[in-house]
Amino acid sequence: MPAMLETRDVYHSYTLGALQVPVLKGVNLTLNEGETVSLVGKSGVGKTTLLQILGLLEPPTSGSVFLRGADVGRGSRSARSEIRRKNIGFVFQFYHLIRELTALENVLLAGRIGEPLGDFLRKGAAERDRARELLKRVGLEHRMKHRPGELSGGELQRVAIARAIFSQPALLLCDEPTGNLDAETGASILELLFGIQSELRSTLLLVTHDPELARRCSRMVRLVDGRVACAEEYRNGAAAARV
Ligand SMILES: Nc1ncnc2c1ncn2[C@@H]1O[C@H](COP(=O)(O)OP(=O)(O)O)[C@@H](O)[C@H]1O
Ligand SMILES: [Mg+2]
Repeated sequence: MPAMLETRDVYHSYTLGALQVPVLKGVNLTLNEGETVSLVGKSGVGKTTLLQILGLLEPPTSGSVFLRGADVGRGSRSARSEIRRKNIGFVFQFYHLIRELTALENVLLAGRIGEPLGDFLRKGAAERDRARELLKRVGLEHRMKHRPGELSGGELQRVAIARAIFSQPALLLCDEPTGNLDAETGASILELLFGIQSELRSTLLLVTHDPELARRCSRMVRLVDGRVACAEEYRNGAAAARV
C-alpha cells in the first residue's frame, strides 16, 4: 500500500526582490496511514513552509509530494485545492477563522472552499446539520452563533478543529495548535485532537515545541538546516531525545 504522504527531494525558496532565500533543501519524508508524527525544529527552520507544501497550499520550488502514491504537489491551484478539500484538514496556531462569520458558518464554509459555485449553492441543510454536529463534538453547542471576536482562544481552536475535520480528512496537519494557549486550555485541545485522530484514524502531523506533546506522537521528525535530520521512534511513551 502506498504511504499516506511522501515527499521526494522537496526544495523551497522564497523570492525577496532579487534575493532567493532557500528554506527547504531536499526534504524526504514518509508518513504512513494512521501514524501520529511530531515535527520539531528551531524557529525559522521551515516547519510552516513544509506544512504548507504538504497541505498543497503552496507548490514546492522543486521536488514531489505524493498523496497515497499520486503525485499531487505541483498540480494547478484548483486541482490542489480539490485534493486538499477532500483529504486534508489544517489547524493553525492562530486559528485562521473568518471574523465576519459565526462559528457555524466558519465550519460550513471550510468544506466548501474551492468547490464549484453550482455545487456550493445546491447543497445545504445536510451540511449545516453536519457542521452543527461537529461543533457539538468539540464542545461548542452553546457557541454556534458566536463570531470569532466573541470567543476565547480555546474556543477558537475548537472551531478550527471542527472546520478541519469537516471532510473527515485522511491527513490532519497541525501547526503549533496549542502555541497560543495557556497550559490547561492547550491540554484540553490536545485531548480533543488525539481523540479525533483515533476516531477518524487519520494520519496526524503536528508541529510543536513542546517535548511532552512530541512524546504523545508515535514518531518525531526533526528539521535541521532545511532537511530531515532524524526520525525517532517512541515506544510505549519511552523517554524521547531532546526536542
Ligand atoms: N512568505 C515568505 N516570504 C519570504 N520569506 C519567508 C516567507 N515565509 C517564511 N519565510 C522565511 O522562511 C523561513 C522559514 O519560515 P517558516 O517556515 O515560517 O519557519 P518555522 O515555521 O519553522 O518557524 C524563515 O526564515 C522565514 O523568514
Ligand atoms: Mg511556523
